[in-house]
Amino acid sequence: TRRITVRDITVAKERGEKWPMLTAYDAMTASVFDEAGIPVMLVGDSAGNVHLGYETTVPVTLDEMTMLSAAVVRGTSRALIVGDLPFGSYQEGPVQALRSATRLVKEAGVGAVKLEGGERSHGQIELLVQSGIPVMAHIGLTPQSVNSMGYRVQGRGEEAAQQLLRDAKAVQDAGAFAVVLELVPAELAAEVTRVLHIPTVGIGAGAETDAQVLVGTDMLGLTGGKMPRFVKQYADLRQVMGSAAKAFAEDVVGGTFPLEEHSVH
Ligand code: KIV
Ligand code: NA
Repeated sequence: TRRITVRDITVAKERGEKWPMLTAYDAMTASVFDEAGIPVMLVGDSAGNVHLGYETTVPVTLDEMTMLSAAVVRGTSRALIVGDLPFGSYQEGPVQALRSATRLVKEAGVGAVKLEGGERSHGQIELLVQSGIPVMAHIGLTPQSVNSMGYRVQGRGEEAAQQLLRDAKAVQDAGAFAVVLELVPAELAAEVTRVLHIPTVGIGAGAETDAQVLVGTDMLGLTGGKMPRFVKQYADLRQVMGSAAKAFAEDVVGGTFPLEEHSVH
């Protein structure tokens, strides 16, 4: 079996097919999602919050993203793997973006990269695409800009809605193969999805986008803490893992593990 390509993603929109995307940060989890048939996996810089213990995505480095992306590529054989460019690795301009994206492609083996920003990232997207690196764009709430925009719904009000539409068209013009819409009103996300010929990938953007993405550990109920309204939890892995750890601890303290069957002589 071959890997899914950006061409397959383009064809899916032409056929009106919806598709799921999950984030993954390690080979083991990625292999589970791959076997489950998840066609596109994002090695998101949300790794900063959920995998590396930072407060935001801002401190995540390109070295970290390269290491995590390489692990996800190694753990999968079918999914298209998209590597997130972290804050500071593309804001200087197109040439810096190309240098950073090249590392994710060559060292980690990702099939595409993602970066944040609409009109402001047009030049970066254009050079990467011209250089043969498929780009997934990301507009609406862009967490790398938390220090200037906070974590608020984007695109509310006529002026902000017009800006979001301009951003969406800008990334499509620049050659992005898909665009993430994060935390934007459902009606606006639906309009963007109708207007664009590239697929929209929604997170907190209603039901009308072409694809949906969730942070893998949020969906699994593993992340912990308060979940945003847009997350649906499909499992309670935090509870499952916690009780397993407690049971192991009780066995050790009580002398009921290991047993004869776990011992060698
Ligand atoms: O880093 C991430 O997980 C993301 C998705 C939420 C789109 O950018
Ligand atoms: Na991200």
